Amino acid sequence: MHAAGAPPITASTSTWPVYSAPRVDRRYLSIRAWTSLYSDSENHHYSRRSQQYWDKFYKLHKNKFFKDRHYLEKDWRSYFDDEIESSHGKVVLEVGCGAGNTIFPLIATFPNLYVHACDFSPNAITLVKSHANFSAEKMNAFVCDATKDDLCVNVMPSTVDVVTLIFTLSAVSPGKMASILENCKKVLKPNGHILLRDYAVGDSAQVKLHDRDQMISENFYFRGDGTCSFYFSEAFMATLFQSAGFVIVDINTYCKEITNHSRNITMQRRWIRAIFGRS
Ligand SMILES: C[S@@+](CC[C@H](N)C(=O)[O-])C[C@H]1O[C@@H](n2cnc3c(N)ncnc32)[C@H](O)[C@@H]1O
Repeated sequence: MHAAGAPPITASTSTWPVYSAPRVDRRYLSIRAWTSLYSDSENHHYSRRSQQYWDKFYKLHKNKFFKDRHYLEKDWRSYFDDEIESSHGKVVLEVGCGAGNTIFPLIATFPNLYVHACDFSPNAITLVKSHANFSAEKMNAFVCDATKDDLCVNVMPSTVDVVTLIFTLSAVSPGKMASILENCKKVLKPNGHILLRDYAVGDSAQVKLHDRDQMISENFYFRGDGTCSFYFSEAFMATLFQSAGFVIVDINTYCKEITNHSRNITMQRRWIRAIFGRS
């Protein structure tokens, strides 16, 4: 995570995919099998109190922590591409919207969208609703724990074109990730998609958490503020989505070297960008 107001950093221009995607040949797991496989991480103090810690996070940082994710525009454009003009009437749901750093730039780029946005932190949803660009006509923001609250209570079934999961799945313990996907599937149109960006294994933040002994289970860690973070391999993500009945449209891991001159350190940031289709 990058804190707004952190010391200046410069990013090298080289951004490159480092792995190729395993597209088939994964062993599929049922949701129940998936959940029980990762049940250990569920009982951990920070997993059980995840909602509490994220709510505290937004009470403390308000909308000052994450920067607006304007860089996602490229992802949206490649998705909407031919349909750029016809984004009119399209419906997007962001799960884990936080303070709105993804949805507000998205609406600025595609003003014809209708956006549902949910988060399990009431403080986050209050921030979204009090944002200067919030429009009750074009947006529906609501509190929901997507691992257990039925999204269909607030969103009509099979009405959403695109679900966005932007650094959200990593905040969920691995045993509960499959439930989120099941939930998203219910509101997605039959030909709908999930657009995702999230942390990848080997990210410098993972190395730091590992060195500090803050591991809950494999690739899953707690941070100093009590929030948790998972680091994905493409293989793990592919199995997760395929088990939940999605097809992989695109999946790639990216790496960017970032130098913080004032602290004289270089960090390797890694993230996954993926698109999944509802099969
Ligand atoms: C790293 S933040 C990303 C926020 C936002 N997507 C963005 O682009 O800035 C992860 C978000 O996921 C939310 N979250 C985590 N688990 C959730 C769950 N089970 N249901 C709904 N939201 C959840 C957290 O409250 C937090 O706002």
